[in-house]
Amino acid sequence: MRAVDLDQMIQCGDALLRPAPHVQLAMPFASADSANSFDWKGRFASVFARGGFDCVVGNPPYVRIQHVQPPERRVTYAATYETARGRFDLAGLFIELANNLTRTGGRVGYIVSNKLLTTRGASELRDYILTRYTVVEIIDLTDTKLFEAAVLPMILILENRRPEGQSFTYASIQEIEAPRLGVVSVDRLLSPLDHSQLPLRIDVEWKQRCYRVEKFDAPLPKRRQPVWTFHYPLEHHLLEKLRKDAACTLDDLTRKISVGLKTTADDVFIKPLTAKFIEQSRLERGLLHPVLESHNIDRWKCIWSSDRDLHVLYPHEERGGKVVPVDLGPYPHARRYLQANRQQLEARAYLRDSGRQWYEIWVHQSPSDFAQLKLVTPDIASHNCFALDDQSFFVNGTCFYIILRDQSYDYNLLLLSLLNSKVLEFFHKLTSGNSLYAKRFRYWTSYLKTYPIPAIGHPRNAAVVRQIIENARRLTTIATDRERSSLEEENDRLIYSLFGLTSQEIQDLESSIVFQRTSSKSS
Ligand SMILES: C[S@@+](CC[C@H](N)C(=O)[O-])C[C@H]1O[C@@H](n2cnc3c(N)ncnc32)[C@H](O)[C@@H]1O
Repeated sequence: MRAVDLDQMIQCGDALLRPAPHVQLAMPFASADSANSFDWKGRFASVFARGGFDCVVGNPPYVRIQHVQPPERRVTYAATYETARGRFDLAGLFIELANNLTRTGGRVGYIVSNKLLTTRGASELRDYILTRYTVVEIIDLTDTKLFEAAVLPMILILENRRPEGQSFTYASIQEIEAPRLGVVSVDRLLSPLDHSQLPLRIDVEWKQRCYRVEKFDAPLPKRRQPVWTFHYPLEHHLLEKLRKDAACTLDDLTRKISVGLKTTADDVFIKPLTAKFIEQSRLERGLLHPVLESHNIDRWKCIWSSDRDLHVLYPHEERGGKVVPVDLGPYPHARRYLQANRQQLEARAYLRDSGRQWYEIWVHQSPSDFAQLKLVTPDIASHNCFALDDQSFFVNGTCFYIILRDQSYDYNLLLLSLLNSKVLEFFHKLTSGNSLYAKRFRYWTSYLKTYPIPAIGHPRNAAVVRQIIENARRLTTIATDRERSSLEEENDRLIYSLFGLTSQEIQDLESSIVFQRTSSKSS
């Protein structure tokens, strides 16, 4: 066989800057960068004369648009690419580009970040994929570290034709601590994926590490579905059952689910504000509030102590139902402190651009919300870790808070128990996507809203509900780990019964993920 001279075949240039072939005619392109832009049609005239490439293979850059320079590029991209909306990523543009570069029936094979399955910034892209491509296969390599990449990679194989069929092949490889099925040794981690008998679920050993390999036909996601997650048939059945038998979702029972404060200058508003610093600087109490950060949230209760933990300097007040900046006049020490940091605070040009005062907190939320009885969770956690806040803490942006419509104490205890149950931890971990290293999960509003809630108001469940509330009362006050784990176990059992799970389903649920029941921080 004659070796092909690759030098002749490598073409270089900026792939994104020129509008893709079919829009090129409709949209004259002019930009300072155009000299370097890659003219697909000009350079591959004979290919486009035949309708486009048979395949496009690549490892496009994963760069969030906020990090792209110069900022005007955003405007160029938004004018050229349908999916360049919101906080999109350059990788998405390459997926769209490939749709324009391939002929009908041509294939695209990319290694991209698996975040494209779940981030809000990629939601346009996911809909684009559903309407312009047939999804052939997704192989999610999660945190296997098969490639040296800063992201968790997946292999995406798409075909340029109108969507066909209702399902596609999904595979995933995840590192696990210990095998739970009979373990198979492999010399190549990807080799189990050659199996054609589906569904496939095996635990494999490779280079002294253990991995769970799954491959199955997954239903195609629906348009506008908030995130794409795919489940092995057994878990799919459990999730469907939880959703189908639920009386409502958490969203139906809440007045608000929100992230906490985003000061965009924590090292002025929060980080230095220990009790000692406050005393030394004589900052006025009227503007100071104890603030929860993620490490202050234990499962069941908040752990905050005035000699160790932090306050927020909150230069806002509520007037006529609106949150407005305070007049700093009556607070001379706070004013002096803020003035001393004025340069840093003023560097937040977006405050000025939106007509706001230089000393404001960017996302200030509302003090009357913080005063409510509420449930709080760290944004990032390895397991469901909700706590009751009955002390009107302010909440920082590393946490989310949930204000229930029913503000009664017992109702909050009941919902707290559900949120901390194995059932809802299972639901969360399977439906939110495992998007971070070290098996940590995001606890965003969009995920929490979808939690299924069983028929807690039905008279037939009254005795079970009463018992759950009593257990939660103890869990939010007791100190010993032993009592905690036996009460949690009992609550899990009672909550399984509220969801009407059979003993087989409970067994399947408990063996499908590893439940971490860490000991309490306070004991
Ligand atoms: C994730 S890396 C891929 C690296 C490649 N797999 C390798 O092993 O060398 C993404 C590549 O895309 C290139 N790139 C970034 N933006 C581009 C653009 N607009 N047009 C063409 N290439 C681009 C980067 O220079 C980088 O080499």
